Amino acid sequence: MAKGTLTLTMIKPYAVEHGYVGPILARINEAGFRITAMKYLQLSPRQAEAFYEVHRGKPFFERLTKFMCDGPIVAAILEKENAVDDYRSLIGATDPTKAEEGTLRKLFGASIEHNAVHGSDSDENALRESDFFFSQLERF
Ligand code: CMP
Repeated sequence: MAKGTLTLTMIKPYAVEHGYVGPILARINEAGFRITAMKYLQLSPRQAEAFYEVHRGKPFFERLTKFMCDGPIVAAILEKENAVDDYRSLIGATDPTKAEEGTLRKLFGASIEHNAVHGSDSDENALRESDFFFSQLERF
């Protein structure tokens, strides 16, 4: 089978703390994504700021980067045809109150700032974000 495209996801501290890692990974598998890399880690403030560099200067930047360091996260590279767009459909709108029924952010997110998961917003960012977390030796 031809190799699909990639997207990068993070299951955020709120969702990890509430025991949602298993349910979220199950839905990722059921939706046809292949996990090509995965790790469990806690970001430092510097790492969170580097990951979200594009949002520096926005009103929510400090709260976002602090929240992302509150506890461990799961980071994973997902492979599928049309991975970026299909994963964004699976996770739903950034704000859980606006996300469609059945989406990961609707099911498992608390608020726009404490949402459950991250998904890359373009193929270019998917590559940058995958390189942020994983070396070639960690991808399968
Ligand atoms: P994420 O997909 O991780 O990418 C950037 C994050 O910033 C986003 O999820 C939200 O958690 C947060 N975010 C985006 N827009 C807003 C906003 N308008 N207000 C607060 N937080 C936001």
